[in-house]
Amino acid sequence: MTTKLLIYGITGDLSRRKLLPALKEIYATGEYDDMQIIGVSRRDVDVPALLQESLGDTSLADKVRVFSMDLANADDYVRLKEDINVQADEQLVVYMSVPPSATTQIVDLMGEAGINGPNVKLLFEKPFGMDLTSARDVLDRTARYYDEQQIYRIDHYLAKEMAQNIVAFRGRNALFARLWDSKNIQSIEIIASENIGIEGRAQFYEQTGALRDVVQGHLMQLLALVLMDIPEDFNWSELPKMRLAALQKLAPADPSKAIRAQYEGYQKEAGNPGSRTETYVSLELMSNDDNWQGVPMRLVTGKALKDKTTEIRIHLRKERESQSNQLTFHIQPNEGISMQLYVKKPGYGHEFETHDLSFSYPENTKLPDAYERVIVDAISGRKNLFTESGEVIRSWEILQPLLDAWSFDDEPIAQYQKSSDTSAVSS
Ligand code: BG6
Repeated sequence: MTTKLLIYGITGDLSRRKLLPALKEIYATGEYDDMQIIGVSRRDVDVPALLQESLGDTSLADKVRVFSMDLANADDYVRLKEDINVQADEQLVVYMSVPPSATTQIVDLMGEAGINGPNVKLLFEKPFGMDLTSARDVLDRTARYYDEQQIYRIDHYLAKEMAQNIVAFRGRNALFARLWDSKNIQSIEIIASENIGIEGRAQFYEQTGALRDVVQGHLMQLLALVLMDIPEDFNWSELPKMRLAALQKLAPADPSKAIRAQYEGYQKEAGNPGSRTETYVSLELMSNDDNWQGVPMRLVTGKALKDKTTEIRIHLRKERESQSNQLTFHIQPNEGISMQLYVKKPGYGHEFETHDLSFSYPENTKLPDAYERVIVDAISGRKNLFTESGEVIRSWEILQPLLDAWSFDDEPIAQYQKSSDTSAVSS
């Protein structure tokens, strides 16, 4: 089936940095030659200049064109519908690369103009709402014109190669499949540390903060992959259901177990002296699942920290204090899995030393970028790496107690030095 890909916000930052480069790679496979890209923009766009800036060449010039319209004008959507003229044997994939505040209106007006037939798919970027109430509103509004089946909510962390590997590793290796419960696992940590600050995204970040930006989607989804049951026969289409079941068993977060902080200099960067927006958050969750009773799960994320790394650390129960017990999923960078092992130090003595037992991909392995993956999956109708509405709601339900507690807290927020280590901020 031929695909027409409509991108709202084709001149925006996400499109330049991620989507257009991902599309270049997708065309390079030779499997999507007949796909056409129609960018939507408020103003006229010099397409070759846009491509040159984003890709360093104009190789996609014959694939991309731009339709200029006023996003608030209902008649323009009728014009758009005529212009794209989707045939019965074609599909229209619509990528909303615009701020969430703009998407609701676009969705309504597309629906009113009749751009919502069964061959239309919508791809949304997070955040899906700003709290539980607004998330419910957003989902209800979209459901007026589109079925859940047509909606693809992107969480690019789910599409990272190593996130998918959590499923493979847990399910396909008897050693680890057997270990996967509270009898053997003592605690779980998911740590996403970034060395960059807010990089000019002050307006977005001031309304968002680390909890909404990274924990609500990315880290909750990684946690769900760690906790969920592995589908029978590795049927990947069951993944959303399995993730949801795991999220449903998580208890709402306890504010007394959460820490938030802000990096020094943030307020100046954000142009808001006195801002209490958190750029760092650490929280603990517990599950009511029989398999996971009593296993604390710590989620940590922050900006302007020492390193750019995302890791899942599984701490196994020890029989003796002197045993090694950590299994690590390196989601990025150096994608792989490692475990420290004690071995006897070679020689006549009886000392021990530690070495890594590890897996990483051979150096020249090309791991598809998460955005390539989401676009290809949406085109092919594979929904397992997208967030279903139930997961969005449950994730907000779990985190809402923190948002509520913080909204009443008018103490100045704790500060941390830029380039700190995550452990230094939490202490
Ligand atoms: C985005 C957040 O969803 O994820 C950003 O909005 C964050 O604030 C980014 O920097 C991190 O993604 P990645 O793939 O670079 O780890």
